[in-house]
Amino acid sequence: MRSRALALASIVAAVINHPTIAAAEGDAARGAKLAYTCMGCHGIANYKNPYPTYSVPKVAGQSAEYIVIALTGYKTGTRGHGTMHSHAATMSDADMKDIAAFFAGEAKVERKPNMTAAAAPKAAQVCVACHGADGVALLPIYPTLAGQHADYLERALHEYREGSRKDPVMSTFAGQLKDEDIGVIAQYFSGLEPGLATAKPKQ
Ligand code: HEC
Ligand code: HEC
Repeated sequence: MRSRALALASIVAAVINHPTIAAAEGDAARGAKLAYTCMGCHGIANYKNPYPTYSVPKVAGQSAEYIVIALTGYKTGTRGHGTMHSHAATMSDADMKDIAAFFAGEAKVERKPNMTAAAAPKAAQVCVACHGADGVALLPIYPTLAGQHADYLERALHEYREGSRKDPVMSTFAGQLKDEDIGVIAQYFSGLEPGLATAKPKQ
C-alpha cells in the first residue's frame, strides 16, 4: 500500500511540474521570441502610427488576458488597424497567449490603494468601476489605462464612439462622451503613475 501511495504522490508531482500546465498560462520565453517583430513599434518610446498620427500604445504591464482579447479583436476585425490585423491574423491561440505572457511579465503596474473614485474627473467617474480610479484594471479582462499615451486613449475612445472599434460595453460608455470629456479623461489616465511601459526587447 505504501508503494502505491508513493507512486500516486509521484504522479501528482509530475502532473504539477509538467511543462504543458505552465504553458496553459502562456510561455513567456517563447513569447519573447515571437514578439521580436513587434518591437519595431511597441519597443520604441513614443513611436507614432502614421496617417493618422497617434502614439503606438504601451503594452508592457498590460494583463495577459486583455492582450489576447485585443489581438483577437484585430484578427477578427472588431478592431480595425491594417498592420495589427496582418500580425494577429497569422497568430495561433498559443502564439497570442505566449506573446501576452511576455508583455504582461515585462512590467507590473501596482495598484495605488488609497485612490477613490473622487480623484477622477467627473466624466471618468463611471469608468473607474472597471478601469480603476488609479487606472489599474479591476479585472484582467479590462485594460489598464494608467500611463498610457493620451493621444492613443483619445483615438481608442473616438473609435468606440464612432463604431470602428466594436465592443458592446465600450460603445455604450464612449457613446455618451463629448469631445471635451474625451480629452479630459485621456489626460487623467495617461498622467497616472506607476503606469504601463514601452516594451523592451529581451536580450
Ligand atoms: C507598424 C507598427 C506596429 C507593429 C509592427 C506592431 N504593432 Fe501592435 N499596435 C500598433 C498600433 C498603431 C496599435 C493601435 C491600433 C489601434 O488604433 O487600434 C497597436 C495595438 C496593439 C495592441 C493593443 C493595445 C491596447 O492597448 O489595446 C496590442 C496588444 C499589440 N498591438 C500587440 C502587438 C504585437 C504582439 C505585435 C507583434 C506580433 C505588434 N503589436 C506589432 C502598431 C504596431
Ligand atoms: C463594465 C466595464 C467597463 C466600463 C464601465 C468602462 N470600460 Fe473601458 N473597456 C472595457 C473593456 C472590456 C475594454 C476592452 C474592449 C475591447 O475589447 O476593445 C475597454 C477598453 C477601453 C479603452 C481602450 C484601451 C486600450 O488600451 O485600447 C479605453 C480608452 C477605455 N476602455 C476607456 C473607458 C472610459 C473612458 C470609460 C468611461 C467613460 C470606460 N472605459 C468604461 C470595460 C469597461
